[in-house]
Amino acid sequence: MELITLEGVHKVYSTSEEVQVHALRGINMHIDEGEYVAIMGPSGSGKSTLMHIIGCLDVVTAGKYEIDGVDTEGMSEKQLARIRNAKIGFVFQQFNLLSSMTALRNVELPLVYAGVPVSQRKERAQKALARVGLADRALHRPGQLSGGQQQRVAIARALVTDPALILADEPTGALDSVSTNDILALFDELTEEGKTVVVITHERDVAARAQRTVHLYDGMLQEVNA
Ligand SMILES: Nc1ncnc2c1ncn2[C@@H]1O[C@H](COP(=O)(O)OP(=O)(O)O)[C@@H](O)[C@H]1O
Ligand SMILES: [Mg+2]
Repeated sequence: MELITLEGVHKVYSTSEEVQVHALRGINMHIDEGEYVAIMGPSGSGKSTLMHIIGCLDVVTAGKYEIDGVDTEGMSEKQLARIRNAKIGFVFQQFNLLSSMTALRNVELPLVYAGVPVSQRKERAQKALARVGLADRALHRPGQLSGGQQQRVAIARALVTDPALILADEPTGALDSVSTNDILALFDELTEEGKTVVVITHERDVAARAQRTVHLYDGMLQEVNA
């Protein structure tokens, strides 16, 4: 079953009437459920733009984007948000945890947005924390955790709604090599469990863990078989 389908996708940013940036130029990309795919490319090649489209954080200028068989064309911001909540878990370079909240509360938040009853939230969040090996850190705040632990909390937060897709933008960019290995081991396990994982990275050894790597150059894709 195909989870992600991009056909002839273009993205043009119009910063003013005269200045337009053609960030994506005819992207065709197909990702099956359960695949582990890395997206590499130099700075400015369109990686974040592509991530925003796959993550339903932005929309195409031209072409087709389907996720899990649903065409996103013409969707409202509200409809896109619903898809994000139901199908996608995000992981960012800077973790994006709320510093005033415990790890447990951070992991619970997507369940609040998903409308999960209070009575079930804590148990599910605790389970997600246990899944990333941090059961005993539930009541710590981000500032009391190492970078690697914070990223594991962020992965627990991404997993707690049981999304089909984990979408990670430079997830190891702020981590040392030991923590990087922890995160990559988790991604391996998630793929074995049937999750689809898409990782954007500029690090070769991170991309090498994926089943295949696609390279972006100047808004266009070039597939390289690992
Ligand atoms: N919001 C925006 N408005 C205008 N131009 C943008 C915007 N976001 C990105 N760009 C431009 O689009 C191109 C691709 O950017 P980006 O997707 O961020 O690349 P990468 O993540 O690979 O560094 C760049 O030329 C960048 O300057
Ligand atoms: Mg980027």
